[in-house]
Amino acid sequence: MRLKSVVAGLVVLAAIGAGGGLWLTAPKPLPESHWQALAAPDLGNGERIFNAGGCVSCHAAPGAEGDAKRVLSGGLALKSPFGTFHVPNISPDPKAGIGEWTLAEFGNAMKRGVGRNGEHLYPSFPYGSYARMKDQDIADLYGFMKTLPVSNNIAAPHELGFPFNIRLAVGGWKLLYFNDAPRVELAGADPQVLAGQYLVEGPGHCGECHTPRNALGGFKAGEWLAGGPNPEGEGRIPDITPGSKTMGAWSTDEIAAYLETGFTPDYDSVGGSMVDVQQNMARLKAEDRAAIAAYLKAVPVR
Ligand code: HEC
Ligand code: HEC
Repeated sequence: MRLKSVVAGLVVLAAIGAGGGLWLTAPKPLPESHWQALAAPDLGNGERIFNAGGCVSCHAAPGAEGDAKRVLSGGLALKSPFGTFHVPNISPDPKAGIGEWTLAEFGNAMKRGVGRNGEHLYPSFPYGSYARMKDQDIADLYGFMKTLPVSNNIAAPHELGFPFNIRLAVGGWKLLYFNDAPRVELAGADPQVLAGQYLVEGPGHCGECHTPRNALGGFKAGEWLAGGPNPEGEGRIPDITPGSKTMGAWSTDEIAAYLETGFTPDYDSVGGSMVDVQQNMARLKAEDRAAIAAYLKAVPVR
């Protein structure tokens, strides 16, 4: 019953996209000029953003280990309630990957969820978070990614049921849920907390797993980082707000240590889909992990 009404809702949204409300739901890339005034890429910062952004978690070949993870050949199958997404190749290969994409094309995928042909991208690519990234960080990331190895792998097409197979329907989702506003209001907080807010809400996309969603795939209001059922099936994703029954008692140093080592204060080790995230976090500088911990302590409790 509920599923039916969801599907009906999306059909309506798709119809809005296709018909009268075209402007409301049309892909909205930033103009070419937006991407022109940026400085030459700082490759060190690009690598930092690459690690914070966790691109390898989805874009590396399934099962890749060590340096093989830097080959962003795609191919991972991401199961979702809407069907299965096959993650694309984003290595610098000119044909199979994104080697020929301009900075503007790359930037519009990251911050607007718009593909190279002007189409909507699916939010299983977490641009709903990446939209908060600084333009210069995008330019640095773009420069860094050109230094990675190429792959000529071509991923299978997505297997999505109607109406999710219609990219126009994503315009309806964007209309409802896509923006680049802060997830929590912390204006005036100390600079370390704000630096952590940027990393968590932007490149780190922590909320994509840690925030529960409604049936249309939007975040539930007022439940930022509050945890919920695991979309991959088993168990729950933990609450990582200060109100959490477990992590709420951890100090900022203990949170930072978990991100660095994968061990909780009780010497449990990190598991599930957090393993990849933790490995990426371990590559950041201590000050970035400390900022993330400070922000997690500052998030308002429901
Ligand atoms: C949670 C999994 C996930 C993560 C993390 C992720 N992506 Fe993706 N990405 C996807 C999926 C799925 C698509 C395909 C979306 C579509 O077809 O609409 C995609 C598409 C893209 C595209 C468009 C490619 C094309 O051929 O149209 C780019 C560019 C991209 N991702 C870059 C990145 C970068 C850079 C990062 C890290 C900062 C990243 N992605 C992290 C899942 C992910
Ligand atoms: C791909 C999904 C995913 C993403 C993205 C993600 N997490 Fe997690 N996180 C998990 C899962 C699953 C667990 C539970 C791990 C376990 O069972 O050991 C977890 C556990 C944690 C814990 C320990 C909580 C506890 O009570 O044990 C912290 C802290 C945490 N995550 C912080 C973060 C931060 C910070 C980010 C962003 C940089 C992030 N997570 C991004 C899935 C994710």
